[in-house]
Amino acid sequence: MWSVIRSTLFLLPPETAHQLTFWGGKLLDWMGIWTKQPPEVAPIELWDIRFPHPIGLAAGLDKNAELLRLWAHIGFAFVEIGTVTPRPQPGNPRPRLFRLPKEKALLNRMGFNNDGAIAIARRLEKRPPHLIIGINIGKNRDTALTEAPQDYANAFQILRDLGDFFVINVSSPNTPGLRQLQSREALLPLIEAIQRHNTSQKPLLLKLSPDLSEEEIAAIGTTAQETGIAGFVAGNTTTQIQYPALGPGGISGLPLRPLRQRLISLLRPFGLPIIGVGGIFSPEDMHQAMHAGAQLIEVYTGFIYEGPPLLMRLLRSLRTP
Ligand SMILES: Cc1cc2nc3c(=O)[nH]c(=O)nc-3n(C[C@H](O)[C@H](O)[C@H](O)COP(=O)(O)O)c2cc1C
Repeated sequence: MWSVIRSTLFLLPPETAHQLTFWGGKLLDWMGIWTKQPPEVAPIELWDIRFPHPIGLAAGLDKNAELLRLWAHIGFAFVEIGTVTPRPQPGNPRPRLFRLPKEKALLNRMGFNNDGAIAIARRLEKRPPHLIIGINIGKNRDTALTEAPQDYANAFQILRDLGDFFVINVSSPNTPGLRQLQSREALLPLIEAIQRHNTSQKPLLLKLSPDLSEEEIAAIGTTAQETGIAGFVAGNTTTQIQYPALGPGGISGLPLRPLRQRLISLLRPFGLPIIGVGGIFSPEDMHQAMHAGAQLIEVYTGFIYEGPPLLMRLLRSLRTP
């Protein structure tokens, strides 16, 4: 069934297929059609949050928190919404999302298109119970890097009571200069600016690029420990692989497998929980990420190519006997 739906959707430009799927999802949700119950697996307790199982939806698919009830029905334990910027912004001009079916990959240069923190906060006030929500925050494109801490702190302030955990995204390749915020000098004021407003001690995670060097990762790990960071999301898309005919962008999907494994392994010694993301297409991928040190898993491109059956396959492989 999914392969028929996918073949049809793949005839359309990627962003049109995305929009059509969202409308279909809203319709399914409205009609109450979606009854699949995920198999029972052992829950995981992290940051005082009880995750019914370890699999969630990665940031960028539901940037504006529009389909939360559907994700809960499909069976995700948690969803990372965003990236949310303080003010709404349109993102880069289209086309900005491309399929690479042979590589089971995507190239995107979306550029944080989103409705902005205030509109998304309003939507989150009606969030479904039982779905854990991570909120991924970033800076507006037209905010100077030197002003970035204020942007992250603003987005956090607006949303802080509406998410279970927060992800500081300093690793998207599609906002000019953003990845420079991964240096210790830039991270210290940025994390401190957010922590100043973090009176209810929400877990703050850092989402990192798989393109960082070992030395950069070591410096970030120490900075994270010093500033009360609660964990890592490892990781974002890569720019190590390029397709000049398609223009710039980050690559996601199967080519990320080895880069994700490397990033998780290099972060493990810092002793903070890790959400493993990048090229998870099968139970084997998931178990490899967990073996390397990830406690939770997120999917994006695998979910686009394999659809909801991927989640069921991953969950079945975790089923408690
Ligand atoms: C179209 C698209 C948009 C994305 N947007 C975001 C985003 O807004 N914020 C973010 O932190 N990551 C974003 N990502 C990165 C994913 O969350 C994930 O880290 C990456 O795609 C690797 O996982 P995957 O191989 O399962 O796709 C996006 C990825 C794609 C393909």
